[in-house]
Amino acid sequence: LYIDWDLMRAEKSGYAHFMLKEIEEQPRAYRDTLGGRIDEQDKSIVFPDMLMGLEQIRDMEQIHLVGCGTAYHAALVGKTIIEQLTRIPVEVDVASEYRYRQPIITKKTLVIAVSQSGETADTLAAITQAKLSGARVLGITNVVGSSVSREADFQLMTWAGPEIAVASTKAYTSQLIALYLLALYIGQSKGSIEQSLRAELIDKLNKLPEQVQSLLANTSQIQRIAEQIAAFKDLYFMGRGLDYMVAMEASLKLKEISYIHSEAYPAGEMKHGSLALIEEGTPIIALATQEHVLEKTISNIREVKARGAYVIGIAFEGNLELAKAADEVIYVPRTDALLAPALSVIPLQLLAYYTALARGNDVDKPRNLAKSVTVE
Ligand code: G6P
Repeated sequence: LYIDWDLMRAEKSGYAHFMLKEIEEQPRAYRDTLGGRIDEQDKSIVFPDMLMGLEQIRDMEQIHLVGCGTAYHAALVGKTIIEQLTRIPVEVDVASEYRYRQPIITKKTLVIAVSQSGETADTLAAITQAKLSGARVLGITNVVGSSVSREADFQLMTWAGPEIAVASTKAYTSQLIALYLLALYIGQSKGSIEQSLRAELIDKLNKLPEQVQSLLANTSQIQRIAEQIAAFKDLYFMGRGLDYMVAMEASLKLKEISYIHSEAYPAGEMKHGSLALIEEGTPIIALATQEHVLEKTISNIREVKARGAYVIGIAFEGNLELAKAADEVIYVPRTDALLAPALSVIPLQLLAYYTALARGNDVDKPRNLAKSVTVE
């Protein structure tokens, strides 16, 4: 008896690529990462698995976040949310830069290492540096028993499940969820966040999985845009605040698998350089979920459109102002501005995927890249 058993295909459960499967697994990854960490009665965060005591939290004077690639981009979002909800100053470093800039690390510093695999050499070296300087280390990883989780004093697991595609998707969004929970946890322990805001954010966190599901249900607009941009050599992303952080991740995603050159810019910085590169038809993806700076972003969109750019906006449903300013808009369900990255990145992951597909690239294994970089 001969059985043609294609293991890889079986593991992909009918999906053409691991990346698409992993994008679609995000509602479950969100649920699993939130699971067991919210006390619904009390609307508070519980971390039975982390073991960081109240005293340690109250003692903390500063936080350093380190990571590489996509994990670094999650850390950037982490900085904004931790600072807003806890008022503790946070710095973020690319792990390969951290130890060479002689960072000021004290016993009252918490260093948070973000790593999907928990095996990235530069992230591990940053942990060593932090520990030598007397800091406590919290590892946010996706692999139980990984080097980062073993080296760290405390650990916070993301429950995204195995991620096979080189381009990270569900690990990134699970890192965001873990960082939201962490920021709320520190905020509630320090008393820096009002009970009502905490309850509101917890309710909105709980809604994210079904909102992601709704984004995944209809991808025809994204597939159409992907077909268009697949023909371009360059593409720009822009946004302000958290939208800029997501723009960086979206740009990395597109670059990694489509091989189209792309850059992410803070919208207000375009006029200080990148505007010179805009030509008739240059595609620009403008993220505009941060409505406290919407007017400013729209005026930046007008600046690029005046130079001929074709602007695709990303906004919360019902944002009609953006529809007037951009050539077309991809809408995401409404949530709190702080939680927007967990939704706005989804269509951009899909866009990278379908663009790479349209260009005939090996989506799961892009050239020259590795899933985990264990050398410095
Ligand atoms: C490699 C991967 C990226 C990943 C980065 C950090 O470059 O290709 O997708 O974001 O390493 O990996 P880590 O496992 O530390 O999150």
